Amino acid sequence: MLDFLGDLRRTHMCGALRPPDAGQKAVLMGWVNRRRDLGSIIFIDLRDRTGMTQVVFNRERNPAVHDKAQELRNEYVIAVVGTVKRRDAETINKNIATGEVELVGDELRLLNVAKQPPFLPGDTVLPNEEVRLKYRYIDLRRDAMQFNIETRHKVSKAIRDYLSEQGFFEIETPFMTRSTPEGARDYLVPSRVQPGCFYALPQSPQLFKQILMISGFDRYFQIVRCFRDEDLRADRQPEFTQIDLEMSYPQPERVWEVVEGFLTAAFNAAGHEIKTPFPRMSYDQAIRVYGSDKPDLRLPGMVDVRTAMTPEEVAEFATKFRMRKELPIHLIRIPNAGEVSGTERRTIGTYGAYQHVQGPSFVQLISDPKRLAKDSPELTEKILRFGNVEAGDLWLLAGALEKPDSSAVMDQSVQHFCEKCGYLRFDLAQKYAPKHGAFQKRDFHFLWVTDFPMFEWDKTEKRWNPAHHPFTSLHEEDMSKLEANIDSVNDPKSPLGEIRALAYDVVLNGTELGSGSIRIHRQDIQRKIFQALGMSDEEARARFGFFLEALEYGTPPHGGIALGLDRIVMILTGAESLREVIPFPKTARAVDLMVDAPTPVNEAQLKELGIGVIKAK
Ligand code: AMO
Repeated sequence: MLDFLGDLRRTHMCGALRPPDAGQKAVLMGWVNRRRDLGSIIFIDLRDRTGMTQVVFNRERNPAVHDKAQELRNEYVIAVVGTVKRRDAETINKNIATGEVELVGDELRLLNVAKQPPFLPGDTVLPNEEVRLKYRYIDLRRDAMQFNIETRHKVSKAIRDYLSEQGFFEIETPFMTRSTPEGARDYLVPSRVQPGCFYALPQSPQLFKQILMISGFDRYFQIVRCFRDEDLRADRQPEFTQIDLEMSYPQPERVWEVVEGFLTAAFNAAGHEIKTPFPRMSYDQAIRVYGSDKPDLRLPGMVDVRTAMTPEEVAEFATKFRMRKELPIHLIRIPNAGEVSGTERRTIGTYGAYQHVQGPSFVQLISDPKRLAKDSPELTEKILRFGNVEAGDLWLLAGALEKPDSSAVMDQSVQHFCEKCGYLRFDLAQKYAPKHGAFQKRDFHFLWVTDFPMFEWDKTEKRWNPAHHPFTSLHEEDMSKLEANIDSVNDPKSPLGEIRALAYDVVLNGTELGSGSIRIHRQDIQRKIFQALGMSDEEARARFGFFLEALEYGTPPHGGIALGLDRIVMILTGAESLREVIPFPKTARAVDLMVDAPTPVNEAQLKELGIGVIKAK
C-alpha cells in the first residue's frame, strides 16, 4: 500500500508557490493537514515547515489518483506531482501565503501513514501541557512551535556571526568536569573506571573560559548547554543554553558594547529593532526605585513622596498613618489601570494577600486615594503632582508600618522594605497593567544593572558569601574597605556588605537575561577575597586548586558575561515559559515526559559503577 520515494525530487516547499508559478510542474512533499472530500473533488492541505498548499485531486482528470486520495488521513506523509494553477478569484484564501494558487495532483505517492494523533497540529484548542510534552514530535509540528524554534535558530546564528566578526573564537569546553562555582547543585556523572568518583556537569564554563584567557585566546564565546539542579520555574530549566563569552583587557563598558551589538543583531534577525546603548542603573538605585535588581522599565518606578514634603509634613503624615518616617513612603503607580472597584482596593489594601509576601506584614498601605484626598487635600495634590499621577492611573502609598510590638517586625532595612514594595508593584502590574496595554510584550526595555554588592549575608549560615562568585573583581575604590574588614565574615553588620563588585546584569522587561563581571586576575587580591570569605588556603586549593595555580602563570585582566539564550527567545517570541522555546524541555519536576527520563537503572549497571541506591521511604 505504501509507495517508495524512489528518485522523486521535491521541487518546492509547501509555502513557496505563487501566481507566477502557474502552469509549471511541481513536486511537493509533506503532511496531510486536512482532507476535504467533495465527492468528485478532494482537497488536501499539504503542510511542511514553510507553510501549506492546497492540492486538488479531480476524479474526472485522474480517477486512479482521486481514488488513492480518498484513503488519505490526517498526518499521512505524501508526495504529490502536479501542475500549479491560479485559483479563481472567489476561491482565493487570503489567510495563507500560497492562497492564490493550488496544485492540481497528477500523481500521488503515499510515503507513510499515521495513527490518529492525540491532537492535531492545526487544533485551535491545545491539550494540557503533559500531553504536549509526551507527544512532543506532534506538538513541534504546530506553527507556533515551528516559529519559536526557527526564531531560536535565527537568534543563535546572528549571535554566532556577530561574535565571529568581532574576533571571538567559538571554543568548546568539557561537559564531564568538576564542580564550578555558580552555587546551584551539580548533576553528577559516576565514573566506572574510578569507582566512587564523579564528574560534575558544568553549571557554566566559568573557569574554563577564564583559563582560555590565560591561554591567550583573547576573545572566546560559546553557545553552550549548562546544567543546574535547582528548583525550576517558568524561566528556569535544569539544562539550558548560555551565550557565554570572555574577553581580555576589558572595562565593563567593552563587554556591554559587545552584548548590545549581538543583541541588536539577534533582535534584527527576528524582525525587531532595539535601541542602544542600553540605560544603566546601579544596583542601589534599582532597589530603591524599583524594589528589584531586575527592574521592569515598562512601568514607572516608585517615588519616595517624602521628598515632596517638609519635615513637619512627613512627621505628621507618618504619625497619622502609623508609618515609620525614617523609611521611604513610596508612591506606586500603574498607568492606565482604569476603574478599580472598592472591593479590589480593599484587596490591594491587605498586602498580605499578595503572593510574594510571607510572614507578618510590615508594609502599611494607603490604597484609597479618595479617603486621603478628603483628609489631606493639599498634601494629596502635592503628592499627585510629584508622582506624575494622571487620571485613570492606579496609585497607592506604601510606608513601613510602625508597630508597637517590634518582635513581630522583620528586617526593616531600606532594602528589605523597598523589595517588598517592588513585589507589590510587580503583582499590581501583572494584574492591572496588561488590561490596558501598559505592559506591551513587544516593547523591549533593556537595562544594565551595575555595581552589585560583592558579598551577601547568608542568614542560615550566618556568614558573608560571594554574591556572584569568588572570582569577581571589586571596585578599586572599595579595596581599602575589604582590607579593613577582612576578618569579619561572621559579622552581619560588617561593611563587607557595602563593597561593590565590578559585576553587572543585563535585564529585559523585568527578566535577568544575563550576568557577568570583571574577574580577579591578581593572586594577591584573590587571596584577600578568600580570606574575607573565611576560606583557608587549603580549602580554596581543594575546591579550585587547578584554577588558582593557572592564575599564577601570567593572567591578563579579563572579564565577560553569559546570557540565557532560552530567555532571550522566550521574550522575543512572547512565550510564557522556557518550555515553549526549548525543543525537548523538562517539566517543573525535571522530567522529560517524551523519553521518560530519569529512570532507575538495573542492578548490574549500578554494581559496575560501585553505586548503591538508598530506597526512598
Ligand atoms: P549566571 O549564573 O547568572 O552567570 O547565568 C547567566 C544566565 O544564564 C541564564 N540561566 C538560566 N536559564 C535557564 N534556566 C536556568 N536554570 C538558568 N540559570 C541561569 C540566565 C542567567 O542570567 N558564569 C556566570 C556568567 C559570567 O560571570 O560570565 C553565570 O553562569 O539568563
